[in-house]
Amino acid sequence: MCGIVGYIGHRDAYPIIIKGLQRLEYRGYDSAGIALYDGNEINLSKTKGKVEDLNNKAKSTISLEGKLGIGHTRWATHGVPNDMNSHPHYSNSGDLVIIHNGIIENYDAIKKELTKRGYTFSSETDTEVLVNLIEEVKRKEGVKLGKAVQIALNEVVGAYAIAVFDKQKPDEIVVAKLGSPLAIGVGENEFFIASDASPFIEFTNNAIYLEDEEMAVIRLGKEIKLRKIKDDAIAYPSIQELALNLEEIEKGGFDHFMLKEIYEQPRAILDTYRGRLLAKEGIIKMAGIDDNLEKFLNANRIIIVACGTSWHAGLVAEYIFEDLARIPVEVEYASEFRYRNPVITDKDVLIAISQSGETADTLAAIKLAKEKGAFVFGVCNVVGSSIARETDAGAYTHAGPEIGVASTKAFTTQITVLTLLALKLAKEKGIFNKTRFHEHLSELENIPSKVEKALLSNPLVEIISNVYKDSTNCLYLGRGYNFPVALEGALKLKEISYIHAEGYPAAEMKHGPIALIDEHMPVVVIATNKGHYEKVVSNIQEIKSRKGKIIAVVTEGDVQVKELADHVIEIPETLESLTPLLTTIPLQLLSYHIAVMRGCNVDQPRNLAKSVTVE
Ligand code: F6R
Repeated sequence: MCGIVGYIGHRDAYPIIIKGLQRLEYRGYDSAGIALYDGNEINLSKTKGKVEDLNNKAKSTISLEGKLGIGHTRWATHGVPNDMNSHPHYSNSGDLVIIHNGIIENYDAIKKELTKRGYTFSSETDTEVLVNLIEEVKRKEGVKLGKAVQIALNEVVGAYAIAVFDKQKPDEIVVAKLGSPLAIGVGENEFFIASDASPFIEFTNNAIYLEDEEMAVIRLGKEIKLRKIKDDAIAYPSIQELALNLEEIEKGGFDHFMLKEIYEQPRAILDTYRGRLLAKEGIIKMAGIDDNLEKFLNANRIIIVACGTSWHAGLVAEYIFEDLARIPVEVEYASEFRYRNPVITDKDVLIAISQSGETADTLAAIKLAKEKGAFVFGVCNVVGSSIARETDAGAYTHAGPEIGVASTKAFTTQITVLTLLALKLAKEKGIFNKTRFHEHLSELENIPSKVEKALLSNPLVEIISNVYKDSTNCLYLGRGYNFPVALEGALKLKEISYIHAEGYPAAEMKHGPIALIDEHMPVVVIATNKGHYEKVVSNIQEIKSRKGKIIAVVTEGDVQVKELADHVIEIPETLESLTPLLTTIPLQLLSYHIAVMRGCNVDQPRNLAKSVTVE
């Protein structure tokens, strides 16, 4: 959460920072701020609201001059979203100014100590405490800013990605990282700082990703040297060439990123298996798996940890691994797993799933499993992210940047990676013979074109959305492989349209939720012709006899459900294990249209952030 941007170089910093903040707004968008050094003074503007509000305010209140600046878009942790709590924060002297993504857990004790020494605070934030701690160290120890930051951070417990500069020494910015992401874009005598590379992609392809507990003094005309915060050891940065391009992070004619990303799924799924699935040769080739095959084959069980939508992908994977590869699987919320003293042995394989690769709970679960000797495999989208680096091995989803806060293409590409893994293991274990293996591989190859077909339901889904846009509740039902899809459909609806929605295994309905059903209750039922079709049809009958409104997702050509349901959305036929890749498409579209019709901010729903780097 929170996005940070900084610039030092020969260009005007203001437009770079504002545009950069807009690109990072998916990370948090309850307030924003900017501080620029104009060669004389620091000019600072901040406000509750969006980056556009900041832009309007800054233009009319401060000088926008300066080749050095830092900016921040906030997802509030300590202190409500308001002007004062927004970043950047000054130190008491007004010389230092800081932006911070993360949480300083022991800020209260430090604040009390600083207060005793005469410091005052104008916000409720942990960040203002940190910048004053840095100032106090600098004053007391008589050290330069870089050293003061280092000493201060050794007193701090928590997580951070920070950028700080000193009015008295305006040729440098000091950055440091622990637990929150920080990238430095390296240009020709200019440097960019950001939570991810998107703010500087049009200026440079060269980036340094700081590791945890690393810091750097970024000085114009000097090469970047990284230092370990703990022991001052020098770390040599590796400059990575970025594969990201500008087109990928823009809306490309769609009204919202979410819709663009829904429509990108055929391409994203193809990119996920491209070069890995060789159907003709009957091979699945994935370095992260091939190099560690024995670990998977000898595993007593697979434990999957994730949060939110990624957790739902993990639930789908549970069905896939157990059904196809006959390996026992447990799927855990990372946030619960990390605190419940789980039994883990070196015979366990832990799979961590995360789009952003930065989710704090998932990261903590990985560290715990590693400590206990498990082999940890990551499924991430963001290349070079913390989880990708922390895991023993892994496979990227290659979905491309997902900017809409509601996860869409991340879900289907995570399932694709996990399907490849399960199929590979099924083959290696001799469970799949050549024919069955080939059948699955070639059907997986057909999925992108079938997703294209499923997307043709969009106009119909828009009409259905109009009927139910004013509902206050909605139930989602599915069985087997499609039970997690029901959960995911409900999550999508509630997070972007604020309609209360619940997902249930269809047969569980009679154990409670059936009490909710009346003529006002829309029930979305996934009723494909594979897996318990007849039983789901019975569940539909039960809803019908209680006057519930049925929106059914069925296999094309279905007859039985058509007669019962109020609305029917068809998806192409496929193998049972692959149905989630198709059934999820109309549910994504349904939540999207309903949210748009209700006037909600689809890409930036209230209270949420794309990358949850705090617990
Ligand atoms: C829902 C959504 C969240 C994320 C969750 C985990 O649409 O986006 O539920 O899935 O915060 O995030 P990652 O996958 O980045 O670890």
